[in-house]
Amino acid sequence: MKPITSKRDFPSTDNFVYLNAANVALMYNGAKQAISEWTQDLAENGSNNFDEIAEAEVFEPLHQHTAQLFNCKPEDISVGSSATELLGSLAWAIAPESEKNVVSTSIVFPSTVYPWQRVARSTGCSIRLVRDINSFIHEDDIIGSIDKNTAVVCISHVEYGSGQRFDLEKLCSAAHEKGALFIVDATQSAGAVPIDLKDCPIDAVISGAYKWLCGPFGAAVMYLAPHLQHTLEPGLVGFRSHKDIWDLNAGRIEYPDSASRFEFSTMAYGCAVGLAKSIDFLVQVGIENIFKYNLFLADTLVEGLRKRNANITSSLSNKHRSSIVTAAFEGKDSSKILQRLKDAKVYLSKRGNALRFSPHLYNNPDHIEEALDHIDRLCLNQ
Ligand SMILES: Cc1ncc(COP(=O)(O)O)c(C=O)c1O
Repeated sequence: MKPITSKRDFPSTDNFVYLNAANVALMYNGAKQAISEWTQDLAENGSNNFDEIAEAEVFEPLHQHTAQLFNCKPEDISVGSSATELLGSLAWAIAPESEKNVVSTSIVFPSTVYPWQRVARSTGCSIRLVRDINSFIHEDDIIGSIDKNTAVVCISHVEYGSGQRFDLEKLCSAAHEKGALFIVDATQSAGAVPIDLKDCPIDAVISGAYKWLCGPFGAAVMYLAPHLQHTLEPGLVGFRSHKDIWDLNAGRIEYPDSASRFEFSTMAYGCAVGLAKSIDFLVQVGIENIFKYNLFLADTLVEGLRKRNANITSSLSNKHRSSIVTAAFEGKDSSKILQRLKDAKVYLSKRGNALRFSPHLYNNPDHIEEALDHIDRLCLNQ
């Protein structure tokens, strides 16, 4: 398969082998430039250029491009500083009552479920974490945990530790059948796996910026379904929560009838400006193309790892896989392998005892071969 990005878009890709998007992806160069320019202007000119109108309108490009990413409307998108912040505000907005339950998985990233745990301590609702079997969650076990008292099913589209990808349509219908909201943390999938909200009526989708969206720390986006845009009272509020942010009046809050009711304060606005550039770029490349390309890289990797007798622990079925590949070598300490690879400028992560490889659109098959060669030379032949 031909490369789908150029060195101009990700200038550092030849300096090292970077297979770590599930941790922090390389940032799209257009985003880096936009953030630098924005930050420099603020530092040198204060609010001379970033005036009240600019501040009121600053999220518009990000609303627009995220709407293209998810096939929804710009008014369905809210911007925050991190996925955890948006999830926290949403969890307090929903605050399931004492007889209710929230369903998630036992291997989900903690930030996806901690906000619900915290709300549960206050309201007395219960949290059901569906157990994995060898790091794999059977979707039918999630469905079996949903009952008439389930207020929310909140899962990560792709599990951070195993790369397992869930069937959103199937889980969404199962949640809705029982009257529960279906909320998806797409931090490990947005930008790399297609999510089409026209096809799938998910209630909320949240994603941080710095992984597969190739954006910065300090920004995140949330899709909120239209039926929740008039009713939910955000858990976090501030001057931006009022529908006219500059009609400053401490005596009242009137929320906008859009997802932006979840935007509440100043933030590192330049990061939102940069994230808009990254998402625009990814949408232009095509998420379907990125998905196919990343799976092609993952295939090359899996083949090479198998030849080296690695125990592949991530899901390999077409239905459930992503480009996150996890593997361990029998009798070898993954921490040592990780350190040796790092010394050789090959970057990945370790989750549990498995090495976690997470190639993204800026990688090419040579990066995979180089990583495998280093594994041979540094790690396995001694
Ligand atoms: C699935 C998932 N959700 C959320 C986060 C954290 O997101 P943020 O740092 O934007 O709060 C991570 C980070 O690894 C993650 O993997």
